[in-house]
Amino acid sequence: MIALESKNIVKYFQKKKETSWALNQVNLQIRQGEIFGLLGPNGSGKSTFIRIASTLLVPEKGNMSVFGYDVVKESQKVQRLINRVSVEASFFRMLSPMENLLFSAGLYGLSKKEAIKRINEICETIGLEKKRMHDRIKDFSRGMQQKVAIARAFLTNPPLMLLDEPTTGLDPRAKREVQQLVTDMNSRYGMTILLTTHDMDEAERLCQRVAVIHKGEIMVTGTPEHLIQIQESKTANPTLEDVFLAYTGLTFSQVETEGVGV
Ligand SMILES: Nc1ncnc2c1ncn2[C@@H]1O[C@H](COP(=O)(O)OP(=O)(O)O)[C@@H](O)[C@H]1O
Ligand SMILES: [Mg+2]
Repeated sequence: MIALESKNIVKYFQKKKETSWALNQVNLQIRQGEIFGLLGPNGSGKSTFIRIASTLLVPEKGNMSVFGYDVVKESQKVQRLINRVSVEASFFRMLSPMENLLFSAGLYGLSKKEAIKRINEICETIGLEKKRMHDRIKDFSRGMQQKVAIARAFLTNPPLMLLDEPTTGLDPRAKREVQQLVTDMNSRYGMTILLTTHDMDEAERLCQRVAVIHKGEIMVTGTPEHLIQIQESKTANPTLEDVFLAYTGLTFSQVETEGVGV
């Protein structure tokens, strides 16, 4: 079964008199149960794609469906099947992670007992210390807040999880913990996960298949192993980083510093 299908999706933004293309004829199929990576430099259209999938933006052209439901015409059905984590997560900042998580769990109809069990399970994997679960979120570091946002999204067990740069800005240890949660949720619950990243090590570690996006266009799609194999005719002992650079025409220092937004 197909979890997410994008057919010829086009999205542009009007900036004063200029039109800037965010997505240009994007075709993708994400299968149920897979971890799929959308890889691209800043400004390549990753967040726009995720926002359309999560019904926050409407495309100019094309169709997108989640488990067969159209993201525009059947947006409420889609909303019940997905959850999204992005860098701009919002909380009740004067409340604790525990209170925030219990509130969300309540909205989704989980019993308190069930919620606490899942919260403990997730927080242990993700390295959220029990003793800090009752402090106010406003005093947390950005990395810690990001972990709480990720914990909250996973709490409800959505069939399709959309993670927009889930590990950007995290220290190496926190990065590993979040990656562990992603693989756990995928293997334990068969959750389909679409994540965006420009960390090729992460993509290789987590994703069964990836697509490279550049300037709103999908350049190539496949398993990391297959894409590396194709690259062998052009580079000696290629890595996924070489594949990424070949399709985006950038050097890695440019990837880190160029482009717009996150
Ligand atoms: N709300 C917006 N208004 C105007 N332009 C936007 C908006 N959101 C995204 N864009 C433009 O669309 C392109 C893709 O952006 P985005 O999807 O955020 O890329 P990424 O997440 O890969 O960094 C960029 O050129 C960006 O400037
Ligand atoms: Mg982005």
